[in-house]
Amino acid sequence: MNLKDNLSKILIIDFGSQFTQLIARRIREFGVYSEIISHKKINSKLDKNQINGIILSGGPLNVYQSKKVKFNKKIFKWNVPILGICFGHQVISKELGGKVKKAKHREFGLVKLKRLNKSKLTVNFFTKTGINKVWMSHADEVTKLAKGFKVIAKTNTSNFSIIENKSKNYYGIQFHPEVSHTENGKTIIKNFIFYICKMKRNWSSKNQKRALIQEVKDNVGKSKVICALSGGVDSSVVAKLIHNAVGKQLTCIFVNTGLLRKNEEYQIIRIFKNKFKINLVYVNAKKLFLNKLKNVKDPEKKRKIIGYLFIKIFEKYARKIKNVKFLAQGTLYPDLIESKSVTGSQTAKIKSHHNVGGLPKKMKLKLIEPLRFLFKDEVRKLGLELKLSKKIVFRHPFPGPGLAIRMPGEITESKIKILKEADDIFISSLRNHGLYNKIWQAYAALLPVRTVGVMGDNRTYEYMCMLRAITSEDGMTADFFDFSKEFTQQVSNKIINNIKGINRVVYDITSKPPSTIELE
Ligand code: XMP
Repeated sequence: MNLKDNLSKILIIDFGSQFTQLIARRIREFGVYSEIISHKKINSKLDKNQINGIILSGGPLNVYQSKKVKFNKKIFKWNVPILGICFGHQVISKELGGKVKKAKHREFGLVKLKRLNKSKLTVNFFTKTGINKVWMSHADEVTKLAKGFKVIAKTNTSNFSIIENKSKNYYGIQFHPEVSHTENGKTIIKNFIFYICKMKRNWSSKNQKRALIQEVKDNVGKSKVICALSGGVDSSVVAKLIHNAVGKQLTCIFVNTGLLRKNEEYQIIRIFKNKFKINLVYVNAKKLFLNKLKNVKDPEKKRKIIGYLFIKIFEKYARKIKNVKFLAQGTLYPDLIESKSVTGSQTAKIKSHHNVGGLPKKMKLKLIEPLRFLFKDEVRKLGLELKLSKKIVFRHPFPGPGLAIRMPGEITESKIKILKEADDIFISSLRNHGLYNKIWQAYAALLPVRTVGVMGDNRTYEYMCMLRAITSEDGMTADFFDFSKEFTQQVSNKIINNIKGINRVVYDITSKPPSTIELE
């Protein structure tokens, strides 16, 4: 029997919001199980006895597009608490007899919310002033309340920002409590699941691990799976998870592009092949990559060559393993969030992420992406649960094209060698000074300029090394890390004293935007 079958849950009905998975994630943070279902897929097969509460998500639709807003209205007869968020708030109001219209004043971004009445939903939510900053994103608004509802809070431009029907336990909020910008937003979710839905804690990273392993077993059956292992957090976690589920049916393919960090290939072989006994095909393709990248300076060309070669090599070795049916990828939810809706509800497409769907299409392999509903920190917790070392789990991100995009201009073997050493000194120093885990990502780059220096009374004419270290939440925006003079001085001395080929070290003090994290 499936672990999830017996769990009581919060059901999240998805109307295609960008934030639906964030709602689920917030609920998981409180140790409670939830399930997301597209608004189009609610049917009588759902076991309502397991459902302690329902959340209606936001979404890009308008409630008056009645043909598109499909869902089984029976949920209003189930006698369970319901919370509508943004579009969900408008759905509740409209379905129960209120009115929703195009808003006179659209509200986007942070807006001041004012308390008018008390509610179970807002216990400990409001600040002492009775005013909280909340994050809004809507162009329609509720203009008339449905019968039995009263107002709990409003803004300067909208009268019904939080509403409740106390006797039925129905709540509607126009803002997004799930996004981190909303002041005390998590308290609203907490109040709903614990005080209103009376949920007990029933979900942990151990459950998560067991449920995911079960899901992989059910999906894969007796078939074979291949996985491109890079040694990064996501592919490492996915490989270990699938290995725990189906053991020798999994083969990992690890391509050494020659653009990895110092000794990275040995670490990966040691951990995955020797320690975990995972089937691992190691492909040393250094020469091929270097040959094809010869004289290539353009960043996009570099990326294309590397991506193309990687896929070709991967396909070649994957074909050698007979009867493979599945390709495992460590795609995370933020990789998908802007590409497509995960439940199949209608979501506005914003951009296609570079990691989604990049691997072999021609091979007709089925994709399995067991981490597709998780966020990075949840993947890290899962990694620890799977007994991966902290060193792997808390590793800084490393891009697919590797050192190639940290070496503007031509790529040569001697430059790679210099860069590997410089990066190793910088990263080891961060670890030795207890700084590594305070920084989201750090690396050394080799700039394609040579400058004059003086060493031991002699003139030198060597490369410039650039150090980059940033703090960030998700890599979308970033700020440079503020090192002490003592630390930068030590690293700079160590690099110059130990590496022939570098006579100047600089530190990148730009944020993202306007810069990006990588150089190319
Ligand atoms: P940028 O340079 O765009 O990078 O600010 C944001 C984050 O993405 C990583 N990155 C990549 N990761 N394949 C990847 O798997 C890529 O092609 C790639 N390019 C950038 C980068 O290291 C940073 O963490």
